[in-house]
Amino acid sequence: MEFSIKQCSPEKQHSACVVAGVYQGGQLSAAAQQLDAAGNRQISALIERGDITGKVGSSLMLHTLSGIAAERVLLVGLGKADEFNGKKFLEVLRATFTALQNSVCKNATLYLTDLAVTERDAIWKINQSILLAAESAYRCDHLKSKPADPPTLHKILLGCADKPDEAGQTAVQQASAIADGVKLAKDLGNLPGNICTPTYLADQATDLAKQHKLKVTVLEEKDMEKLGMHSLLSVSSGSRQPAKLITLEYRGGDKKQKPIVLVGKGLTFDAGGISIKPGAGMDEMKYDMCGAASVLGTMHAIAEMSLKLNVVAVIPSSENLPDGAASKPGDIVKSMAGLTIEILNTDAEGRRILCDALTYAARFKPDTVVDIATLTGACVIALGHVASGLYSNQDTLAHELFAAGEYANDRVWQMPLWDEYQQQLDSNFADMQDIGGREAGSITAACFLSRFAEDYRWAHLDVAGTAWKSGKEKGSTGRPVPLLTQYLINRAKS
Ligand code: BES
Ligand code: MN
Ligand code: ZN
Repeated sequence: MEFSIKQCSPEKQHSACVVAGVYQGGQLSAAAQQLDAAGNRQISALIERGDITGKVGSSLMLHTLSGIAAERVLLVGLGKADEFNGKKFLEVLRATFTALQNSVCKNATLYLTDLAVTERDAIWKINQSILLAAESAYRCDHLKSKPADPPTLHKILLGCADKPDEAGQTAVQQASAIADGVKLAKDLGNLPGNICTPTYLADQATDLAKQHKLKVTVLEEKDMEKLGMHSLLSVSSGSRQPAKLITLEYRGGDKKQKPIVLVGKGLTFDAGGISIKPGAGMDEMKYDMCGAASVLGTMHAIAEMSLKLNVVAVIPSSENLPDGAASKPGDIVKSMAGLTIEILNTDAEGRRILCDALTYAARFKPDTVVDIATLTGACVIALGHVASGLYSNQDTLAHELFAAGEYANDRVWQMPLWDEYQQQLDSNFADMQDIGGREAGSITAACFLSRFAEDYRWAHLDVAGTAWKSGKEKGSTGRPVPLLTQYLINRAKS
């Protein structure tokens, strides 16, 4: 989808559809007033008749109004004017794009970003308009023998009363890049495990590197062997697909600036290994590479917007399957950091590939490391599908990520990393065991990772509950690409 912003009058806009808001009680937004005046008070008449209530989320498509250049006018309800907040703005956008997607419109001009929204700025309104538009157009049916016709809507113009400033233009460009990053993350997440293997992810990263002139490196199992990554290799030993350790380097900042490293869990299928998972819903473990997908999506977005920052992606990728060569409960392996790990449950594979990736990340002399992983079912129990779990060894970083998530509508909630939880990982036979028992499962997984991230500022995002949806709406959400890109945009500014 194409996006642009410009100053233009709603009644003169030659567009398939012009979208304007009406408040509850019949009060017209500025754009709706202009349309009403040019169109001989036809909108007022519809309000008087009760066809338009202005209830938030309601909408009415009008065709060929006289005096108006556009073929259609979509009136959307805004609710009460003094209660029009960010949440309601999003509801209005959803109603708008549902109506537009159900129409034959090829393009539309939206007069919504001028609306006063409490506690939200112009950039935010532009961002959300573009992200939700792209979301409404998302399909993943290319593997069906007869895919549905692609959506007709492919051009969105954000109409403004005044000439948009440079910040507004930048916002459009950045939000389009974020939307592309989200799409890439969704596409990769939705691919099945027989297509999206560690090798496939490495090829995708290589394509991305070519497209944006990034540096790409793919370590093979023999390279990992030499580096002593026996924890990572203890996950892939049960799989016929070779593990890959993928790194992408984006250098948009000053040469001397230390990079931010993003580490993404890339389990292209997690059957649990010898500690095999129950069969019901196991297909969803193709989504166990959504951390990796979000890192690739974020790299795509920041490269597309030429962000002035240095960012490195590190993606450990493997399958986790049962096999004669698979790791067994009770096995003890030595990580790249030299710490030994007693494997009690082979299904806790995420932390075992991430710990070596975190050790490897240190060679980029990072300013900050953020890992993103569909790490624990316990995190879904704790936070549901609303917020991702956030852990950090530094409170400033936690606050920055929290704020970026609030702004991007991609929220996280901080969980404790207190010492008291660490003892749940004590082992009689190794430096630590992989799991900490039933209690506080998301926290003890983070505690495990924290032992490999002591030398730098670090945060961990457990996205097990937010990276994809189940049931009828089954599909990847693209989260936390909006959060990560917002965090990086904020970091590039400071
Ligand atoms: N990929 C899973 C986590 C997961 C499970 C995400 C369900 C989303 C939904 C992870 O590798 C895993 O299996 N974790 C185990 C850890 C346990 C063995 C300590 C879990 O959460 O059950
Ligand atoms: Mn697992
Ligand atoms: Zn997993």
